[in-house]
Amino acid sequence: MKVETVPYRSIWLDDDGWSVRIIDQTALPHAFRTVRLTGVEEAARAIADMRVRGAPLIGATAAYGLALAIRRDPGDDAIEDARARLLATRPTAINLRWALDRVAGMVAPLLSAERADVAYREAGRIADEDVERNRRIGEHGVALIRAAAERNPGRPVRILTHCNAGWLAAVDWGTATAPIYRAHDEGIELHVWVDETRPRNQGASLTAWELGHHGVPHTVVVDSAGGHLMQQGQVDLCLVGTDRTTAAGDVVNKIGTYLKAVAARDTGVPFYVAAPSPSIDWSVVDGASVPIEERAADEVAFVTGSTADGRTETVRVVAHGSPVANPAFDVTPARLVTGLITERGIASATAAGLLGLFPERGTVAGGPRAGAEAPG
Ligand code: MRU
Repeated sequence: MKVETVPYRSIWLDDDGWSVRIIDQTALPHAFRTVRLTGVEEAARAIADMRVRGAPLIGATAAYGLALAIRRDPGDDAIEDARARLLATRPTAINLRWALDRVAGMVAPLLSAERADVAYREAGRIADEDVERNRRIGEHGVALIRAAAERNPGRPVRILTHCNAGWLAAVDWGTATAPIYRAHDEGIELHVWVDETRPRNQGASLTAWELGHHGVPHTVVVDSAGGHLMQQGQVDLCLVGTDRTTAAGDVVNKIGTYLKAVAARDTGVPFYVAAPSPSIDWSVVDGASVPIEERAADEVAFVTGSTADGRTETVRVVAHGSPVANPAFDVTPARLVTGLITERGIASATAAGLLGLFPERGTVAGGPRAGAEAPG
């Protein structure tokens, strides 16, 4: 997507052909800064500190991180250490493991001298495939927005989104935002309610910044406003991303997603999740068994913003001495999800629905949650 007039992806190979460039998402929306990654430790820190974040981008960064490590030392032990270091950065997004397994699996049978080239090529392929996958999610998802526009002629389609499942969270297009950008580019009138997404404000800082740069009309609301907006008939559909979707369709996504889904169900608003296939964990059925990342208390206790004269400042908002908890994700049970928008089409949030689009993953034995046994 474009920043001012320049097209960007969220990660790319630098001009030297081996180091990796990312957009420092901790600086947005106050400053647009890129950062060069030259080794696995830098890549791991960029993921852990959330300079890069969002499930697909975490995967792509990890893949390039492993390539950087292999360039330095292509030996089996060094690769295993690098893989373990990257895997430990963030526990919830399954794309991390998926991308590392892909790169590690490609290089394992090769001679040391061949490994770095192949690792870079595989990381590049992971990035390119992400772009194409999201483009297709846009194609399938836009049909929902088009249908809502036809049902409500003469006014914008009102979409509520949570966190940032935009192009910054992926390599390009985004997942939840792909149908939104597509609809906007087709001339469908829309308006996006952007949850601010405490504690790190990915909605207010990143989604709003992205939509603004693309000219998509939007309004930032506090996280607790969504239920009210839905009660007031101000939301036609909710569209969010996912860090891990189980084989039965439970969705693990940014903390607060579940509450939106509950409100959507209560008010009859359709609740869709953009779920690219690398975010599906076929080995898990029940979302309750997915590890939920617990992040630092300071993310809740302090807020960072820019002052009127352009300085960035961090201030405390929690009373001194009060303990803070910071679970970063929650589980939205499949029964609250209207549909999963994948690159192959829209599936019901059930094992049968997912297997209908991904039959190579196995067969459904006895129903969606039968024996809590995941296929594949
Ligand atoms: O903690 P974050 O910012 O990495 O969380 C991001 C989300 O929860 C996104 O909704 C999810 O990764 C999907 S991104 C296309």
